[in-house]
Amino acid sequence: MVGVQALLSEAGFGLDDGALVNAARDLGRAMREGLGREGAGVAMIPAYVPPGCPGTAGEVVVVDAGGTHVRAARVRVQPDGRAQVLAVRRGALPGTGGEPIEREAFFDALAGLVAELPEQGGPVGFCFSYPARILPSGDGVLLRWTKEVRAPAVVGTRVGEGLVQAMQRRGLETGSAVVLNDTVAAAAAGSLSGSGPATLGLVVGTGTNMAYFEQSVRIEKLSADQASAHRFQAINMESGNFDAAPRTRFDEALDAGSADPGSQRFEKMVSGRYLGKLAGAVLAELGLVADPPQAASLEAGQVAAFLDGQREAAGWLAGAGEPDIVRAVLEAVRDRAADLVAAGLLAVVAHAEPPGGRMTVVAEGTLFWQMPGFAGRVSASLDRLLAAVLPGQRAELVRIEHANLVGAAAAALSMRG
Ligand code: GLC
Repeated sequence: MVGVQALLSEAGFGLDDGALVNAARDLGRAMREGLGREGAGVAMIPAYVPPGCPGTAGEVVVVDAGGTHVRAARVRVQPDGRAQVLAVRRGALPGTGGEPIEREAFFDALAGLVAELPEQGGPVGFCFSYPARILPSGDGVLLRWTKEVRAPAVVGTRVGEGLVQAMQRRGLETGSAVVLNDTVAAAAAGSLSGSGPATLGLVVGTGTNMAYFEQSVRIEKLSADQASAHRFQAINMESGNFDAAPRTRFDEALDAGSADPGSQRFEKMVSGRYLGKLAGAVLAELGLVADPPQAASLEAGQVAAFLDGQREAAGWLAGAGEPDIVRAVLEAVRDRAADLVAAGLLAVVAHAEPPGGRMTVVAEGTLFWQMPGFAGRVSASLDRLLAAVLPGQRAELVRIEHANLVGAAAAALSMRG
C-alpha cells in the first residue's frame, strides 16, 4: 500500500483545497473571458432560454442525444409547469460504434426512433449534448464533436434542421426544432420547479459540463438587441474544455491518445468516457493488469461495480489481484474527479452570486448518481470549499426525474412562437 500511495501522490492525484480553490479562480477568469468574446477556451454559449420557461403547456417530441445513447420521447407539459413523460424509445447513439457515420445516416437513426413513438407532431425539443452555437431561431450549429463521436460531416451544420428533415423524409408530422444542451435542459427543468435563476445544471456522465442563468447585460459578446430579449438566460459553459486544472502525467498520456488531443482536458480528468481508462493506466503501471488493451478499455461502469462489490459486473478488475491496491487507485481517481466537479461548482456560485446566497444544482448523469460515493464526495467538498471562501453562500444538489426531457420540452414550447 505504501507504494501505491506514493505513486498516487507523486503523480499528483490528490488535490488539496488550495489547489481546488485556484482551479475555481482560473475557471472564473475563463468564464469572464468566454462571456466577452467568441472562440474562448470555455465557450460560454448563450442559449436564449430564460429561467422558468414562461407560458409553456402542450405536447412535444423530445430527442435526447447523449454521450452513448439517444432517446426519443413524447412529453406533455401542463400549464402549472409539471410534466409527464408519455412514451420513451431508446437506442445507441449513431457514430459511437467505431466507424464514422454520414450526416444523413446520423439524423435518419434519430428520426427512426421518433417514428417508434405512438404519436408525433408539435414542436421538437432537441437535447443535444455537444457544443453547438445557438441561433436566435432556436436551431444550433455543431461546433465540434466531443466524447469521441465520429460523424464529421455534421460539424458546422444545423442539427435541428438535420433532425426535422430526417423526420420529414420518413413522412412524420413535425414542427420546428429547438436545440438545447443537456446542461441547459437540466437548469431549465430546475428553474421550473421554483429556484428561478438561482439554478445550475450539472452533468457528469459520459462527458461533463455546466449551465447557469446569467444576466443578459453581463454577456458582453451579445449585441444589445440580443441581450435585451430576456433579463436572464441560460449559458452553456462547455466547461469540459477548461484546461487549467493541475494534470498528472496519466492525464497527459490519455489526452495525447484521444480523438481530440488538447481539447476537453477537464472532461478527460472527470467524466465517464475517460475515468476507467485513467484508472486502468495507473493499474497497468502498478503491474496489476494482465494485458495492456484491458487497461485502455476499462469502463467507468466496471469501476463503479468494483467499488460497489459487484464482482461479476466488475469483469477482470474483480480478479486483478491485490484488491486493496485496486480499490485505493479507483478511489483516488474517483475522488479527484469529484473534487474537480466541486471546484467547478464553486467557480459558478462565486461568479453568479445567486440571490439569497443559495444555488440549486440540478445534477444529471450516470457517473454522478451511480458511481458509489461520488455525489456524497462532491457535496462534502463543495460545502467545505464554500465555507472556506464564500461563507454565506450555499448550494444544494438535487435530482429531478427526467430533467433533460422535461427541460427540453418546456424550452421547445416556450420558444415556439
Ligand atoms: C460534453 C459536451 C457538452 C455536454 C457534456 C455532458 O462536454 O461537449 O455539450 O453538455 O458533454 O453531456
